Amino acid sequence: MDDIPNPSLTIRPGEKLAVVFGGSGFLGRRIVKRLLHRGIAVRAASRHPDRARGEQDHGEFFTAIKADILDQDQVAEAVSGASAIVNAVSLYSEHGDLTFERVHVEAASGLATAARDASVESYIQISGIGSDPSSRSRYIRVRGGGEEAVTAAFPDAIIVRPAVMTGTDDAFLTMIVRLVRVLPVYPLFGSGDTRLQPAFVEDVAEAVARLASGTAEYRGRIFEFGGPRVYTYRDLVREVSRLLGIHTRLVSVPFPAWRALATFAEVVPGAPLTRNQIELMERDNVADTEQPGFHELGMEPRDIDEVVRAIREKS
Ligand SMILES: NC(=O)c1ccc[n+]([C@@H]2O[C@H](COP(=O)([O-])OP(=O)(O)OC[C@H]3O[C@@H](n4cnc5c(N)ncnc54)[C@H](OP(=O)(O)O)[C@@H]3O)[C@@H](O)[C@H]2O)c1
Repeated sequence: MDDIPNPSLTIRPGEKLAVVFGGSGFLGRRIVKRLLHRGIAVRAASRHPDRARGEQDHGEFFTAIKADILDQDQVAEAVSGASAIVNAVSLYSEHGDLTFERVHVEAASGLATAARDASVESYIQISGIGSDPSSRSRYIRVRGGGEEAVTAAFPDAIIVRPAVMTGTDDAFLTMIVRLVRVLPVYPLFGSGDTRLQPAFVEDVAEAVARLASGTAEYRGRIFEFGGPRVYTYRDLVREVSRLLGIHTRLVSVPFPAWRALATFAEVVPGAPLTRNQIELMERDNVADTEQPGFHELGMEPRDIDEVVRAIREKS
């Protein structure tokens, strides 16, 4: 049964309520958990609220509601009574009328507008490192356009740009671990020179929870979150191999070949490889040291070691 949002169930006078759109996702459900640990009531909004309920056990301080970010009425109802909003909705590949523009620009702007109209105090838009409205890559351009649209609607919005995120259930490191274990020769993206700074998803979630419950000094700023070490893709695969105790031979595979492969792979539901992933792998994904990040929030980010070990033990 889908819950109908009923703020009176969760909010008492003076109590803080955060609404996390995408609160059942890889990042979103960890943000939910961290906010709850900080004593903030949370409403997780998504199209399949049952997925958000599973692991959260905070009784009356947590509700999961059905709300599609593309439906302005559902959005308005979802944000009512909130003091903070986090948009952690993703769309990694387009299908039918679900386009990057609709989700990452129009819907993000609609949510930010609803938050402003509801006099929400803080608004956090989860974006990504490298987002740029003038990029040649459509996905990256749209993410940049999304940031601009959100800021136009809610000038104090905090933009959060994580690097690629790792976790025991991630799509990135888990794939590298699997491939290192089964393939005699590991195919690199291009020659493997792209620079990456993987961030642990739990660290990013904690940072977002601090921002959502933090003071006015953070408002209107862009935060970039990268892990403690910058790797080339080649060095990252080598490091994973070392942690697994496996010797891996690496081979360069040109990007046009990956693009062709992704075009076919995208036809499969839940595609393991998408064209926008390839586009992202063609660009360095490293936090800008000019922008605030973990250190400004008093945090020391963690590297990949523990995550690789946990993934190995899981599989
Ligand atoms: N994963 C990474 O390494 C990474 C790196 C940098 C930036 N980011 C950004 O971080 C954000 C979160 O990514 P993620 O990896 O956590 O995504 P995810 O695991 O795919 O989760 C997406 C969430 O959004 C919800 N959602 C999708 N469409 C929706 C809609 N129309 N209305 C309401 N909810 C909707 C999903 O639930 P339902 O399907 O049930 O609606 C789910 O809760 C995204 O902006 C992503 O681009 C991710």
